[in-house]
Amino acid sequence: MPMLNKNRIYLSAPHMSGKEQFYIEDAFTSNWIAPLGPHVDAFEKELALHVGANDAAAVSSGTAAIQLALCLLDVKEGDKVFCSSLTFVASANPIMYLGAEPVFIDSEPETWNMSPQALEEALHDAAKEGNLPKAVIVVHLYGQSARMEEILALCNNYHIPVIEDAAESLGSLYKGKASGTIGKFGIYSFNGNKIITTSCGGMLVSNDVEALNKARFLATQARDPAPHYQHSQKGYNYRLSNVLAGIGRAQLQVLEERVNARRSIFERYYQELAHIPGIQFMPEMENTRSNRWLTALTLDEQKSGISNHVLLQALAEDNIEARPVWKPLHMQPLFAGVRYYSHSEHANVSEQLFKTGICLPSGSNMTEEDQWRVIQCVKNCFKHKNSFFSDERRITKITGKSAG
Ligand SMILES: Cc1ncc(COP(=O)(O)O)c(C=O)c1O
Repeated sequence: MPMLNKNRIYLSAPHMSGKEQFYIEDAFTSNWIAPLGPHVDAFEKELALHVGANDAAAVSSGTAAIQLALCLLDVKEGDKVFCSSLTFVASANPIMYLGAEPVFIDSEPETWNMSPQALEEALHDAAKEGNLPKAVIVVHLYGQSARMEEILALCNNYHIPVIEDAAESLGSLYKGKASGTIGKFGIYSFNGNKIITTSCGGMLVSNDVEALNKARFLATQARDPAPHYQHSQKGYNYRLSNVLAGIGRAQLQVLEERVNARRSIFERYYQELAHIPGIQFMPEMENTRSNRWLTALTLDEQKSGISNHVLLQALAEDNIEARPVWKPLHMQPLFAGVRYYSHSEHANVSEQLFKTGICLPSGSNMTEEDQWRVIQCVKNCFKHKNSFFSDERRITKITGKSAG
């Protein structure tokens, strides 16, 4: 039974700094309660400066930013777009909005992100078939950057632009550069669970200022420059509100603090749990800095004697919110029959990560006490694994599904 007397520990709760109220108040007193306004302009400039991109366009969500990037690359019905498979569905939904066809690419073990090996094979096949993708969407999972150098080299060979889905990796670095600023376009999400939040919101970044001006145009119903309301192409209502942009400005000021807090939560989990046989934490590739948005690990059931499902159940019973690793998109009913390239003939990395992975609570506003409660719960689960085995049988009995 859940320990309802204990406070709930969330996976990644919003963390306000206190300065947000100042900007909200300013939006109210100036009556800029609109999509667009001075806070939107300032938020765009401040974020672009922070990540070192020439320009940034603030939009209503990370998903909208991906769709706009695809529009800017002229993705339309019948086109192909390659996309990481191990990710949240929002990475690929915009491909479908435009009537294009996704092709999913597996992960590789060191970054958990797009496998250059699988990408190479997919590009080779597509070239042979005379049907190259219009774009490649590379996801930086849980804050860890993908192998951008190898991926860009492959895509450049075929002149295919790369969109970085950096929804989860704002504040992360790849070889000294901000995650999201290396491909043609990068996108960030400010959803409530992200490292900084505007409740909902997103940003499209690029060094191509002209393209971002076009994104702003498309995101405001594609209104032609005429005194009357005139439209020559399809547009969207995707801009960010001035109130939310104000929240974003205050949040951006504490981004580095938030990264440090999440990294130190990871460190604490690592120090306390990494010695347990069968536990392996998500690696951090050399020459990169992950924002450690979520601390993720895998459980080798043969060595640990416990599956990720059993651990998730134990945490849930202690009123702690933890999650399995994303279910790969090529395994989703929505994408049944969609083409997929695995890392190698023998290694299906994303499927293995899904089967064994778990994300621990990682919010930057977790108290030390909360962090110790999570650690203790995990340790207890291993200490009493025999009783959890019987729990596993119990889960099987209740759900009719194996927990392992
Ligand atoms: C990898 C990834 N891509 C895209 C998104 C979509 O962002 P949003 O919720 O702001 O639309 C999210 C999160 O929600 C995400 O985790």
